[in-house]
Amino acid sequence: MKVQADLLLTNIGELVTMAGSPGLRRGEAAKELFIISDAAIASFQGRIVWTGKSRDASRSVKQVENSLELNVEGKVITPGFVDSHTHPLYAGTRQAEFAMRAAGADYEDIASAGGGILNSVKRTRKASSAELKDTLLKHLSTMLLFGTTTVEVKSGYGLDLETEIRCLETATGLAEYWPQTILRTFLGAHEIPPEYSGRSDEYITYLIDEVLPEIKKRELADFVDIFCEKGVFTAEQSRHYLQAAKSMGFGIRIHADEFHDTDGASVAVDSGALSADHLLSISDRNIAKIARSTTVATLLPGTALFLGKPFPPGRKLLDAGAAVAIATDFNPGSCFCESMPLMINLAVCQCGFTIEEAITASTVNGAAALGVGDHKGALVQGMDADMILWDLDDYRGIAYHMAIPDIENVVVAGQLISSIFK
Ligand code: NIG
Ligand code: FE
Repeated sequence: MKVQADLLLTNIGELVTMAGSPGLRRGEAAKELFIISDAAIASFQGRIVWTGKSRDASRSVKQVENSLELNVEGKVITPGFVDSHTHPLYAGTRQAEFAMRAAGADYEDIASAGGGILNSVKRTRKASSAELKDTLLKHLSTMLLFGTTTVEVKSGYGLDLETEIRCLETATGLAEYWPQTILRTFLGAHEIPPEYSGRSDEYITYLIDEVLPEIKKRELADFVDIFCEKGVFTAEQSRHYLQAAKSMGFGIRIHADEFHDTDGASVAVDSGALSADHLLSISDRNIAKIARSTTVATLLPGTALFLGKPFPPGRKLLDAGAAVAIATDFNPGSCFCESMPLMINLAVCQCGFTIEEAITASTVNGAAALGVGDHKGALVQGMDADMILWDLDDYRGIAYHMAIPDIENVVVAGQLISSIFK
């Protein structure tokens, strides 16, 4: 019997399916892309219904009325990218600080002098919801053009109940009609706001007692995150906070061991976090610990590039057997870049990934880090029809072309974005 389809893509040179075991991929499993050559793929109402050899498509697939059939002429198709760590809910740019860094200042020194995240907080608190939405839309659109079909967005530039709610409401409102899948993270514990200066324990208590319950009640976030770092929140505070968030039913994630080893990765594993992110300064002991766990090690190589810091130890984590994801960390201070293809190039050229491991890290493992691995990150029957049509005849070109992605079109839930935005 033929399956019904409203989208059929044929004559695909390489269909990178990422089929294989569901869930996290590590070790040898992270190197396998499950490519079908001379392939076709069909979807119906946003879900994949069939993949196989192009020559078998006509006897396997029945196209419904008004369906779209596209011959992609031997090119490459991959799953859409999953960017599992971004901060696009902010107002104002930080070009002045960028210029200070260009003249020799250090990111952490700028932050401890009241700049950095707190600089964006000042501007975000004053911004209107319309302004926040415009900024968010602008960056999401760029992400989409660069192949990101699922994106996590964090709050964290409000640091008070009213602004944090406004930021998360902006993301929630947009998610209802915007083609990308948006997952929301409450990052109220991104910094200590000026009104709690020197009283970080009290700020954590305020977040737990007053803010988290309100965010939960209004269903404004899927996850809760904290910046565990020297001078921001300690491992002990992070442990306590994430435990509280988890008991309220939030998924948890953590900014860990970015500039200093603060044992953040260990907190992530012990707390059952979905993901520990950054890890530029992770200890060897914690590399072994995260490798034995189901917490995804999420690397953000764009941040190391943007700040001129050493790159995260990708090869060490992969060799230890960790499940590794990569993401952009898009934000106005430490990585002003929306491009997953650039992150893939950096993972390969600077962090010791093979091309196949970098593709796994930006698709299936990114999806697992967001708890959506059952329907995102791979092109197999039943999963969402989110894909990238590349102007390439060899998937390795994805990592090879630095900074300039050879993307011809993007499909979100079975629809070409060129037709959504025409
Ligand atoms: O992930 N590390 C903490 N937060 C962001 C930086 C935010 C900023 O500088 O505005 C990050 O790199
Ligand atoms: Fe971040």
